Amino acid sequence: MKIDSSVAAVVTGGASGLGRATAAALRDLGARVALFDKNKELGEQTAAELGALFCEVDVMDEASVDAGFAKARAAHGQERVLVNCAGGGRGGKTIARDKQTGEIVPYKTDDFQWVLGLNTVGTFRCTVKSAAGMAALEPTPEGERGAIVNTGSVAAEEGQIGQVAYAAAKAAIKGMTIVLARDLSSEGIRVNTILPGIMDTPLLGGLKTRAPQVYEGLARSVPFPRRLGTAEEYADLALTMIRNGYLNGETVRLDGAIRMAPR
Ligand SMILES: NC(=O)c1ccc[n+]([C@@H]2O[C@H](COP(=O)([O-])OP(=O)(O)OC[C@H]3O[C@@H](n4cnc5c(N)ncnc54)[C@H](O)[C@@H]3O)[C@@H](O)[C@H]2O)c1
Repeated sequence: MKIDSSVAAVVTGGASGLGRATAAALRDLGARVALFDKNKELGEQTAAELGALFCEVDVMDEASVDAGFAKARAAHGQERVLVNCAGGGRGGKTIARDKQTGEIVPYKTDDFQWVLGLNTVGTFRCTVKSAAGMAALEPTPEGERGAIVNTGSVAAEEGQIGQVAYAAAKAAIKGMTIVLARDLSSEGIRVNTILPGIMDTPLLGGLKTRAPQVYEGLARSVPFPRRLGTAEEYADLALTMIRNGYLNGETVRLDGAIRMAPR
C-alpha cells in the first residue's frame, strides 16, 4: 500500500517509543495520523510535535476505543492503516519465595488477566474495530482495503523467568496473526506482526542513565549489532509491512539475532 496524504492511520501507544516513531514515519510520508494513548499529557505533546491528532484511549476499555475511532475518523476519514503498539507487562514468577520468610508467593491471576487484557485483548479489540471500518472502504487498484501491524515481543518465543503473563500475551498476538490474515483476506486487509527484541524506548525506564552497566550488558548480549534496537528501526519495518502488498500473515523478529536466556 502506498503511504501518502490520501491515507489515514491509527497508531495505538503512539505517544511514546515504538508507536511514536512509527507515527512520525507515517507523518513524514504525508499520512494523516491519529495517536491512541492513555497518557493524555504525553499524547497531546507528541501529537503537537508530530502534527498528529491525539485521542485519549485506553485500549482495555471498549467504549474508550469506540470513542477514539469515532474521533479519528471524524477528523481524518476511515483509516487504512492500524499499528498496534500499546502494551506492557507486570513481571513476576509463576510462584516465588519470599527471601526473608520463605513463604510461597503465587503470581496473581488478576495480574495475568490484566497483562492479557492489555496486550492480547487490547490488540484484538483495536484490530476488529479497525477492520470493520476498513471493510467499508473502496479497495485500491490492487484490491487492498487496509494493512494492520501488531506488536509482540521475542518473549513470545523465549519468555524469560518472571515473564509468564507477558510471554503468554505476546505469544497469543503471534498466534492470531495468521488467523487474522486469513479471516480478513476476503476483505483485502493484511495483518503482520513484529516481535521486537531489546529496544531503546522509555519502556526501559531510563536504564541508560539509571543503570549504565545493566544497559551496556543488555547491549553486549545482542550478537550483532551489539546495541539495543532503535524505535526508528521498528518504524522502518512497520512501514515495510504496510507497503509490501505480498507480505501477509507473517511474524518477523527484529532483534539483532538475540535469543533470550532464561534470565
Ligand atoms: N521496548 C522494548 O524493548 C520492547 C520489546 C518487545 C516488545 N515491546 C512492545 O512494544 C510495544 C511498545 O513498547 P515501547 O517500548 O514503545 O513502550 P513505551 O512505554 O515507550 O510506549 C508504550 C505506550 O503505550 C501506551 N499505553 C500503555 N497502556 C495503554 C493502554 N491501556 N491504552 C492505550 N495506550 C497505552 C503508553 O502510555 C505508552 O505511551 C509494547 O507492546 C511492548 O510490549 C517493546
